[in-house]
Parts: sequence; C-alpha cells; structure tokens
Amino acid sequence: MLLVTGGAGFIGGNFILDWLDSRKVEGVVNLDKVSYAANLLTLSSLSHDSRHVFIRGDICDYELVLSLLKKYSIRAVINFAAESHVDRSIHGPKDFIQTNVVGTFNLLEAVRAYWTDLSNHRKQTFRFLHVSTDEVYGSLSSNDPAFSELNRYEPNSPYSASKAASDHLVRAWHHTYGLPVLTTNCSNNYGPYQFPEKLIPLIILNALSGKSLPIYGDGQQIRDWLYVKDHCSAICRVLNFGKVGETYNIGGGNEKTNLDVVNIVCDILDNLLPKSDGSKYASQISYVKDRPGHDRRYAIDANKLMQELDWRPLESFTSGIQKTVSWYLSNQEWTKSIISGAYRDWVKFQYN
Ligand code: NAD
Ligand code: TYD
Repeated sequence: MLLVTGGAGFIGGNFILDWLDSRKVEGVVNLDKVSYAANLLTLSSLSHDSRHVFIRGDICDYELVLSLLKKYSIRAVINFAAESHVDRSIHGPKDFIQTNVVGTFNLLEAVRAYWTDLSNHRKQTFRFLHVSTDEVYGSLSSNDPAFSELNRYEPNSPYSASKAASDHLVRAWHHTYGLPVLTTNCSNNYGPYQFPEKLIPLIILNALSGKSLPIYGDGQQIRDWLYVKDHCSAICRVLNFGKVGETYNIGGGNEKTNLDVVNIVCDILDNLLPKSDGSKYASQISYVKDRPGHDRRYAIDANKLMQELDWRPLESFTSGIQKTVSWYLSNQEWTKSIISGAYRDWVKFQYN
C-alpha cells in the first residue's frame, strides 16, 4: 500500500480519489490530523472502499507513523501533510514550523527506521515522495526566466521558509542515509475540493453570497496556475519513473495576474448564474491592503518533467477554471460543511 499524508486536504484528497479511480489494486493508507483545512466529505465516496484506510493522526507522531509503515508494508510514502496558507503563516508561523519542519523530520526518521530493515529488493523499490511548492524559489521580476530546478532557494514567507526547510531535510536524508527520495515543487493549484481561504474558491463563494471580492494591493501579482488533477498525474509520473534523489518542477505554463483570474471567474459566473439585478459579479471587486512581503511573480519551467518523464497537463487554464467554477456551483453542500465558526472568524480577522 501507499502511505499518503494529508489526504483529507485539497491536493491529497484529489490524489487519493484519482489514484483509486484509475482502478489501482494498490490501496492507500491516509494519515491526516484533520486540521481546519481538511474535509472528510471529500472522501465520502470511499467510505465502503476497502482500498482506503483512514487514520486520524499527526505526522509528528513517530510511533504512529512507524507502526503504520510496518502494519501495512508500505512501499511508498507521499507527503502532502502541511500547513499551506501563506496568510495564516504571517499571523501564526509556529504551526508551520511544527508540521512542515518538525513533522517532515519525524516522518523521515520513521521512514528511515522502517526502510533500514527492509529486504534489499524492497529497499531499492521503496520511495519517499515529498510534495513541495515553487514558493521556495522566492519572487521573480517580470522579465526573469521561469523557475528551474537549479534556481536558488530564496523563500520570503514563513510558509515558504518552512517548506524550504523541509525540502532540505529530505535532500539531506538521501545524501546522508541513502533514503530513496523524490521532491516535487509545484505552482499554484486550483480545482475541486480547495478550502475557500485560497484565492479562487474564496472569490467564487464571496461572489455567490454578494460579498466583496478582495484583491490584495494592485492585483498585478502573477501566479502560474495548474489544475489539481494535472498536479496529481505529475506526482504519479514522478513516483513511477522519477530518478531517486532528483527534484522536479511541476507547472502548466498558465501565468495570470490575480486581477485577470478574478475577472475570468466573474465572467464564467455571469454566464452560468447571471445576477437577478442584471449587475456583473466584477462590480463586487474591492482592493484591500496588500499582504506583507507579497511575492510579485511565480512561474515554473517544467521542461525537465516533460522531457525526462514525458508528462503533459491535460487542462488549459480556460478549461480547468470552467470545470472548477461549475464544480463549486454543483457542490455547495461540500463548502457549507466547512464554513464553520472558525472559518468565519478567520475571514473576519483577515479582511476587516
Ligand atoms: P491543504 O491545507 O488543503 O491540506 C493539508 C492537509 O494536511 C489537511 O488535510 C490537514 O489536515 C493535513 N495536515 C496538516 N498538518 C498535519 C499533521 N501535522 N499531520 C497530519 N496531517 C496534517 O493543503 P494542499 O493545498 O492540499 O497542499 C498539499 C501539499 O501540497 C502541501 O505540502 C503544500 O505545501 C503543497 N503545495 C500546495 C499547492 C497549492 O496551490 N495548494 C501548490 C504547491 C504545493
Ligand atoms: P493564495 O490562493 O493564498 O495562494 P499563494 O499565496 O500560495 O500564492 O493567493 C494567490 C494570490 O492571490 C496571491 O498573490 C495572493 C492573492 N490573494 C488576493 O489578492 N486576495 C485574497 O483574498 C487571497 C486569499 C489571495
């Protein structure tokens, strides 16, 4: 079986659904502490599927991780578990250090203890795949080339610094102990099941409920958007064919300013669900105070992954964003279930 950490979150949840949907006989043990960002409804279609074993627990718990590795004879670990929201990292960095740095360290140590005792053959085929972000490379100017795997690490937020630290630990466990690791650094994801504190689902939900659509600063910051299912297919490719010890950048070549993204979402909503008063959703746009240390531009050069592992994204931004907006319109139960008091408190704190 695979051990997937953070599988009740956005990308991990999509990964497990896609993995099991492609009729894989190999099951998944899903270790997730069920933080505010998790939603078990994402996995409700698997409630009677014996290939999915859900364990509520923390990657910082060494004994638990080691016992799961042994009990389920795990052949690969895919580490999605993380605190993942930049704005929250600015207001409370401690949880980010705990899960992203200490948690990854614990995971590596438990995996090392397990891996050391495997037979030679199983040792060679075992993989630890660490899911990371392009934000570790810092910010680009408008004319800079996109991030390649050779860019310097220059993280600027507590979130990206904690992810950078975790990437360094993974690298060191390979060089020092020989652990068969792989690291992926992906650009901004969007798609079904994303927690609505992130830009795209936040804009969709605020638009539908008649609230303002907050744009930080001038809205000219650029992100390189990738549909989540394309990220998941890239992870499968790296898991199966990636060269041990290597890192792979993942991105779809969809650079957009935040303002463009918000306008595109508004246009799709105007078509799918026009407002009864005839006004446009974009009229709800409101410019708010900028994020401190806001990175100006991210862009990914995914040539290594495309050329060496023959990966291609299936969705363009146009097709992926259309699917995403439609998904949120048809799955309002999913979002209602997480719009808890804690979510409302966060929105009040961040935007008032
Ligand atoms: P998410 O916040 O939606 O989900 C994270 C999951 O991890 C949640 O289910 C949470 O309960 C779980 N978790 C948190 N701390 C844990 C702990 N200590 N032990 C066990 N489980 C824990 O995040 P996401 O957007 O799905 O991101 C997944 C991974 O991908 C992260 O490592 C993130 O850095 C990386 N990544 C995300 C993006 C993006 O755009 N979302 C882009 C590139 C890379
Ligand atoms: P986000 O989804 O938080 O991802 P990240 O910070 O990891 O890139 O934000 C994407 C971009 O959208 C980022 O430049 C910040 C901006 N943004 C807003 O303008 N308004 C918002 O309310 C949010 C949440 C983000």
